[in-house]
Amino acid sequence: MYKLLDGKLISEQIKTEIAEEVKRMMEAGMKRPHLAVIIVGHDGGSESYVAGKIKDCETCGFQSTLIRFEEDVTEERLLEEVDRLNRDSDVDGFIVQLPLPKHISEQKIIEAIDYRKDVDGFHPINVGRLSIGLPCYISATPAGIMELLKRYQIETCGKNCVVIGRSNIVGKPTAMLLMQKGYPGDATVTVCHSRTQNLKEICREADIIVAALGQPEFLKADMVKDGVVIIDVGTTRVPSTETKSGFKLKGDVDFNDVATKASYITPVPGGVGLMTRVSLMKNTLLAAKGEIYGK
Ligand code: GUN
Repeated sequence: MYKLLDGKLISEQIKTEIAEEVKRMMEAGMKRPHLAVIIVGHDGGSESYVAGKIKDCETCGFQSTLIRFEEDVTEERLLEEVDRLNRDSDVDGFIVQLPLPKHISEQKIIEAIDYRKDVDGFHPINVGRLSIGLPCYISATPAGIMELLKRYQIETCGKNCVVIGRSNIVGKPTAMLLMQKGYPGDATVTVCHSRTQNLKEICREADIIVAALGQPEFLKADMVKDGVVIIDVGTTRVPSTETKSGFKLKGDVDFNDVATKASYITPVPGGVGLMTRVSLMKNTLLAAKGEIYGK
């Protein structure tokens, strides 16, 4: 029988811990942590992610500022706003919600963010520092996955970990963290992607699988071994008549099938997504306390 890696339970615990810490900071006369979020346009997914981030700030006792631009905002204007936030000493950290409209270079925007305020951990300085094990902001999904492994005391040392997906914000940093020295790292990591041959054979050797390819219900029971630990990063919205919103979130793992063989498995929703959300709060708290790059 599998055990659920309960992202809802753990993220609630962490939010409570953060809120308690903020309370202590207030009592010590410190400034309230402040996250700013830039959103461009009205993409449904982005709107709901951003609403979640603002709500999480409230729960944690943070100040938040939402900055909205219409779809036709120029790159120059957006860069101006990034620069303003870089210099605003009241803002501890900020993010620019992705994706951005096609006429704006996401890379240019990310690189314009002061890496000391880059609580998304997307800036090349943070990515580079992560790769050599220096203190940095770690992007929220990989950080959330590692936290989940830690809280459930899942052994990673010497384990075969297979990461499916090679994105800059999930696959690559997750692989990097799992191979780092010390717990929850020290794993032997294989990164698979759309061009991988023998994916099934590779997955069947895995003690831990992180599925982050964005293909609903891709991973099936015949692709895993007994006792495998499954981390499902997928959050594809599929149309549904069963929900008010008109869609349902589907993971990259066929849960009911794979759960028959897993020792631990994350649900979707209620798994990695909530851990991602709380990791941004954790990064914002670190920024407010100056714990990564000082103040
Ligand atoms: N779009 C989807 N996920 C993210 C995220 O973690 N950060 C930002 N800035 N945009 C996103």
